[in-house]
Amino acid sequence: MKKILITGGAGFIGSHLVRLFVHKYPDYFITNLDALTYAGNLENLTDIENSPNYTFVKGDITDESFVEALFEEKKFDAVIHLAAESHVDRSILDPMSFVKTNVLGTGVLLNAAKKNWTDLTNKLFYHVSTDEVYGSLGEVGFFTETTPYDPRSPYSASKAASDHLVRAYHHTYNLPVVVSNCSNNYGSHQFPEKLLPLMINNIVHSKPLPVYGKGENVRDWLWVEDHARAIDVIFHKGITGETYNIGGFNEWKNIDIVHLLCRIMDKKLNRAEGESEKLITYVKDRAGHDKRYAIDATKLENELGWSPSLQFEEGLDKTIDWYLANETWISRITSGSYKQYYDQQYTKR
Ligand code: NAD
Ligand code: DAU
Repeated sequence: MKKILITGGAGFIGSHLVRLFVHKYPDYFITNLDALTYAGNLENLTDIENSPNYTFVKGDITDESFVEALFEEKKFDAVIHLAAESHVDRSILDPMSFVKTNVLGTGVLLNAAKKNWTDLTNKLFYHVSTDEVYGSLGEVGFFTETTPYDPRSPYSASKAASDHLVRAYHHTYNLPVVVSNCSNNYGSHQFPEKLLPLMINNIVHSKPLPVYGKGENVRDWLWVEDHARAIDVIFHKGITGETYNIGGFNEWKNIDIVHLLCRIMDKKLNRAEGESEKLITYVKDRAGHDKRYAIDATKLENELGWSPSLQFEEGLDKTIDWYLANETWISRITSGSYKQYYDQQYTKR
């Protein structure tokens, strides 16, 4: 039996990954380590919480003695590390919590793995990272695995630092590592501070749809379950020490996505055509807003045989339906501490 530590498994991507591994690999034992910050939610995993090959541990990856004791107790064979502060706007408000969790937390996990893995055979430390480490693109071109790092927000700088630490542990101590850098994910269970669930929820409640700047920034969207499938493929077939870019070959200007959402949701909510579009409100731009991200995922496709499984329109449709069917999930989240963040972020914008 392989013993795998997944960090951040109560979050958006982590919960999809935990579910995939628990179902697909009954002979693996999955430990989900998560601090349950505002973004972590065990409701995301109620369907698998009693599975015999799964356990949840509440804890903070920056707590060195706790993490080391956990490694000693559980004797993990592999780590898939997702726990992080993940929202760019919050990193602008509070950069140090990103430095703490994303940089220090990754260092603590790497150190615990290095100390415990005296025999490195069949061990793997997998770091789940972002395309934002590469900076911002102009009108043309793609990020490849050899694009130089040029992070420009406190979030992306903290993720770049953690990527560098992971590679440094490989080069210096031979720790078997792999890194993947993925584009924007969308799908069920995403915290409503992010663009798509925020817009979906605001459309439902006829609240203003806050588009930053002119809405011309471009993001490359990937269905979250396709990201989880990519992590599965890289975990099992990726080459130690390598980096793999993951993306949807699916670029959209923010404003075009918001228009599309409005059109689909007018139909689903039986509203007059054009009603939701009236909610679109252009607000002050994000500080240092990266213009365009676009991933070239050819290496992952050619070398490991992965490709996205869902067309964007289909994925978006499923995503909207999930939020519409899970009003209690979203209303519980939006009525907690998120309310304060939302007001601070948007009322004076
Ligand atoms: P998320 O914010 O939804 O979830 C993060 C999880 O980490 C939460 O469950 C939270 O409780 C946990 N966590 C935070 N600090 C912790 C700590 N100190 N100790 C233990 N657990 C802690 O994030 P997400 O969108 O699911 O992203 C997961 C990972 O994937 C992150 O590393 C992020 O950088 C990366 N990523 C995200 C995207 C995206 O589009 N969302 C794209 C590429 C890469
Ligand atoms: O590219 C991968 C990254 O994608 C991940 O590493 C991050 O964890 C994830 O949060 C995401 O970062 P973005 O900043 O691209 O995602 P966000 O949903 O915050 O914003 C998407 C775009 O929409 C961005 O150009 C900013 C814009 N936006 C966002 C919000 C929240 C708006 O116009 N209005 C909004 O209210």
